Amino acid sequence: MKRMLSGIKPTGELTLGNYIGALRNFVKYQDSYELYVFVANLHCVTVYQEPKELRKNLKDAIALYLACGLDPEKCTIFLQSDVLEHAQLGWLMTCMTYMGELGRMTQYKEKTKGAKDESISAGLFVYPSLMAADILLYDADYVPVGEDQKQHVEITRDLAQRFNNRYSETFTLPEPLIPQVGARIMSLTDPTKKMSKSEESNKGCIYLTDDPAVARKKIMGAVTDNYAHVNYDKENQPGVSNLLEILSSLTGEAIDSIVARYEGKGYGDFKKEVGDAVANELTMIQNRYNDILKSGMIETVLKEGAEKAHRIAFRKLKKVQKKMGIDIF
Ligand code: AMP
Ligand code: TRP
Repeated sequence: MKRMLSGIKPTGELTLGNYIGALRNFVKYQDSYELYVFVANLHCVTVYQEPKELRKNLKDAIALYLACGLDPEKCTIFLQSDVLEHAQLGWLMTCMTYMGELGRMTQYKEKTKGAKDESISAGLFVYPSLMAADILLYDADYVPVGEDQKQHVEITRDLAQRFNNRYSETFTLPEPLIPQVGARIMSLTDPTKKMSKSEESNKGCIYLTDDPAVARKKIMGAVTDNYAHVNYDKENQPGVSNLLEILSSLTGEAIDSIVARYEGKGYGDFKKEVGDAVANELTMIQNRYNDILKSGMIETVLKEGAEKAHRIAFRKLKKVQKKMGIDIF
């Protein structure tokens, strides 16, 4: 069975973008791959997080993983910091990475645009080296992520290759798996920007814990255009195309087929259908989410997950350190 790994960095509440671009796909894959999913809490603190809030977001993220259908019997769910090998291989990978490579990362450039050097943590800069360690520790064949993380998986491949050439064959080169539809869900208020939890106005972003009625309203208020026909054209109709991607991802209906159904109709009914689909999905997730939070199962899931993950990570790190000459015995 091929191995797959992915992580989410819950620096806020999880969004519909996280769900469609990443989480949902993990659920699909857990039957046909050996799947590892973790909450990237070490990545969260590359930017200051208020401790109480971070703790809540981490716990919520695990509860949402489970509520969305990840089954601890089928996959391994853990907290990154519970498996100490991540930080350690992260350091070794940092030493294998060039400053130039890190400086070219789009996410780094976007996050530091206009910021003074004094305000940017070194962690934010070396973040991709830690992400490479996350992936390489487990010899993941595939890494399911949204579009924005593709570059980080590519640098991981470069680092794996570099290590293999320098020392000897050690790491599997991972491949990113980007969904064909929904890899980049856009903001509802500005469909030229990614839907993101760091957004200032709440209206553009749907959170998985939003009241379904509120989520429906956000969809009804989504920015569209004056063309007045439902059409998939990201360039000229980014808002409508975004709604089409959301609906298609949630219902499984092909975009062409949705477009055909709305031929000659305006946006009102279309938005209503998207709003209903989103509200239904949220209702389903939230029912399970509340049960999970009450059940106290999170602690057990994390403990068992960390043990399983650690067994693999430990062996891999040992091998790496031997090859590098750091471990003497
Ligand atoms: P993050 O919340 O940045 O840790 O992202 C976790 C996962 O969700 C990554 O695989 C991202 O690529 C994916 N993701 C985040 N935002 C979006 C979005 N707006 N559309 C699609 N995928 C997303
Ligand atoms: N950097 C990813 C994000 O922000 C989260 C992440 C950390 C990740 N380590 C990973 C994703 C390893 C996939 C594999 O979304």
